[in-house]
Amino acid sequence: MPPVVLRTTAVAAGGDAVARGDNGRVVFVTGALPDESVAVALTEEKARFARGEVVEVLEASPDRAVPPCPHVERGCGGCTWQHVTPDAQRRLKVDIVREALERLGKVADPVVDAGPVLSDWAHRTTLRMAVRDGRLGFRRRHSHDVVDVDDCLVAHPLLVAVMAEGRFGDATEVTLRCGVRTGERLVVVSPRAEGVTVPAGVTVVGDDELAAGHRAWFHEEVAGRRLRVSARSFFQARPDGADALVDAVRAGLTGAPEGRLVDAYGGVGLFGATVGADRPVTLVEWSASSVADARVNLPDARVLRLDVAKWRPSPAAVVVADPARTGLGKAAASVLAGTGASHLVLVSCDPASLGRDAGLLAGHGFVHDGTELVDLFPHTAHVEAVTRFIR
Ligand SMILES: C[S@@+](CC[C@H](N)C(=O)[O-])C[C@H]1O[C@@H](n2cnc3c(N)ncnc32)[C@H](O)[C@@H]1O
Repeated sequence: MPPVVLRTTAVAAGGDAVARGDNGRVVFVTGALPDESVAVALTEEKARFARGEVVEVLEASPDRAVPPCPHVERGCGGCTWQHVTPDAQRRLKVDIVREALERLGKVADPVVDAGPVLSDWAHRTTLRMAVRDGRLGFRRRHSHDVVDVDDCLVAHPLLVAVMAEGRFGDATEVTLRCGVRTGERLVVVSPRAEGVTVPAGVTVVGDDELAAGHRAWFHEEVAGRRLRVSARSFFQARPDGADALVDAVRAGLTGAPEGRLVDAYGGVGLFGATVGADRPVTLVEWSASSVADARVNLPDARVLRLDVAKWRPSPAAVVVADPARTGLGKAAASVLAGTGASHLVLVSCDPASLGRDAGLLAGHGFVHDGTELVDLFPHTAHVEAVTRFIR
């Protein structure tokens, strides 16, 4: 089918631009920006919407940039917004979050702040990579093919050295992690770590060893606290971003009463250890690995290994909740409201779930009182939002 010419109007969560086809149907266009005229190859057609990719930009937005990374041209699917200027990326993320809060959360005219400017490059401390012929690479966009990469503009230099020098035998997938402020590096190799060579001082562990009970970890420092992070524990993908999240969560609790803090979806205890340093803390988390780290990182806290949605809430003054992409959902929103807390700070990594959760929390009397973004992943459409709710 020949390309269709479309005029884009807005940006959708996920980073595609939105246009209307001749028949009025919404088309999500990968590689376009709002207010562009583009020739689009349609890749998927449904009754209510279609998807396509830009094949030619006929009239470019002033927000369009030449991708700084040479691997974009080679098809690397690691960063999806390198064609967007950094200023515009921040503006578009605000638009995406405002729209989700208004449409899904029914929040009238929500205040959404773009947040602090973090460095665009050399920041990522966690990278999941594929392997081809023993060398690391990223998946080609919309494909299982691997584009080999021995340098990456967004990766922290501690990890770039592993990319360049590491050889990974017959592995299929490798996760690189590091603690910027400790210099520690950890590489998790799937399915096993046979025939792997990495630079001196890098810890290597196979998925098979982890499954057999072997433990491996690194440490990172955030807001002055040293935290242990095990191979299978979640941790924020840049320490300056984690600092910024801690600042935003702390600001979100301004004016809150003294008393217990619930760190829900607490991971290794990032917020409990920092924002909760001068309060009693209850941390709720379901990953065994993260719970083991949290018990080390927060020796005085009550650490519960549980699904938040199934917790029988105990009284608390404040709640910090940082769920996975699916958000809180009905059950967890009700559980967290059941703590009786007057202040709840929600850290969301998906705008749609933030919108839905804002609506659910409103049903429990929580009023949206501002959202601040923390741009953990520049050059992608990924959004991290810290929202204050009070009742
Ligand atoms: C986005 S991470 C946040 C972790 C931590 N707050 C941090 O900033 O490092 C979400 C965490 O929630 C945990 N999790 C996801 N769903 C959960 C559930 N239903 N109940 C308890 N923990 C859950 C995951 O294991 C993960 O550690």
